[in-house]
Amino acid sequence: MKLWWRINLAVAGLAGVWLTGLALSAQGRTVAPATGQKAGEAFKNVTTSTLKELSVDDFIASMGLISANLGLDCADCHPNAGTDRADFVIDTPRKVTARRMVEMVAGINRTNFGGVQRVTCWTCHHGRITPSTTISLDAWYEAPNIELDDTVRQESGQPTADQVLDKYIQALGGAQRLAGLTSVVATGNALGYGDLGGNADFTMFAKSPNQRATLITYKDTQRPASIWAFDGRTGWIKTPRGLLGEYELIGSELDGARLEAQLSFPGQIKQALTNWRGAAIRSIGDRDFVVVQGSGPRGFLATLYFDPASGLLSRMVRYGPSPIGRMPTQIDYSDYRDVGGIKFPFEYKFMWLDGRYTAKLNKIETNVAIDATKFGRPSVK
Ligand code: HEC
Ligand code: HEC
Repeated sequence: MKLWWRINLAVAGLAGVWLTGLALSAQGRTVAPATGQKAGEAFKNVTTSTLKELSVDDFIASMGLISANLGLDCADCHPNAGTDRADFVIDTPRKVTARRMVEMVAGINRTNFGGVQRVTCWTCHHGRITPSTTISLDAWYEAPNIELDDTVRQESGQPTADQVLDKYIQALGGAQRLAGLTSVVATGNALGYGDLGGNADFTMFAKSPNQRATLITYKDTQRPASIWAFDGRTGWIKTPRGLLGEYELIGSELDGARLEAQLSFPGQIKQALTNWRGAAIRSIGDRDFVVVQGSGPRGFLATLYFDPASGLLSRMVRYGPSPIGRMPTQIDYSDYRDVGGIKFPFEYKFMWLDGRYTAKLNKIETNVAIDATKFGRPSVK
């Protein structure tokens, strides 16, 4: 399939943004956006009524969402994206259409759905540049539609969300053991991140109740590490082509980083989100899972898939809101093993709109001291 090059180009395209920023800095513009700056202020030519109000990190994620929703790469709207000659500012015909569509989506939701976001780019485009207009009769008679609602509701005959979460805590080793967990250091390999092949080290640090950092470091190249850090209050991402690729998390990625940090200490899972609902049964491939959902701040959602037999968490999909649709990030957990009486997943598959990797762990240490700088801004380490 063509999917792999799409993902690589998307990552390459993001690199182009930072390179552009570097070039602009020579002309006296600030390099990284100032904290709290909106996209309409940080970028030269961001003018739609909704996207211009986003934080810079949410704006870039919304670009990933547009690309995925239409099956495009950054370069399909922005000339030379993915190279150091990328021009994100110029208005190409397709970019002009996209801008019009952004306003159209806002208008449809405002006039028909009381301002609730019911219609998104995905509603019509479904991964195609031109939305299809007519049903295929094969699809009607033969292939069931397996698309899922974003929202989860309690199904009759299923346990409550509370019962599912209790079973999970029990399956991991019980509330008492989990309460005694104060830190986790996990090491292993990261496979398939960007176009970098298999040769990267993966390290995850977590400190109770809500600090977490992930590092991907490359053994055979001069490439700087990728770092995701959250210190309980502020979050940062530093990307592999990291000339400039460090930015602060302000928007929904900050809520996502906080949730992942909290879930590193699963004894507190019930408090990590509010308004827990479910359970419902949902399939991934040919396996059924027990699914519950909770809400975070500002329209943030997370859906958790539990293995019905073991009670362990198999998948989390978290969604950050945007004016053009929810921005998903998905983590699959597997290969649970016992470390000091608590079960930990030794494999994570991490996917977001602009990349994915699989982390295979070979060692987990618990309750060891971790230097506080690990969780802070990467560049000031
Ligand atoms: C379908 C077309 C389309 C695709 C694909 C697309 N964009 Fe955009 N991009 C836009 C539009 C439209 C705007 C202006 C939005 C506005 O005016 O609010 C924009 C603006 C931008 C800007 C701001 C440039 C400036 O300084 O004014 C950046 C940066 C950007 N996009 C990055 C990306 C990246 C990175 C990708 C790939 C992940 C991407 N875009 C994919 C349509 C697209
Ligand atoms: C109500 C349905 C609908 C929604 C929602 C929708 N689109 Fe479209 N879009 C269309 C149709 C239909 C076309 C094809 C128009 C044509 O070919 O004349 C199109 C075409 C486009 C094109 C031009 C593609 C090309 O051929 O170059 C872009 C870019 C685009 N849409 C972006 C978006 C974005 C971004 C969103 C979300 C903000 C969005 N659309 C939401 C229906 C929709």
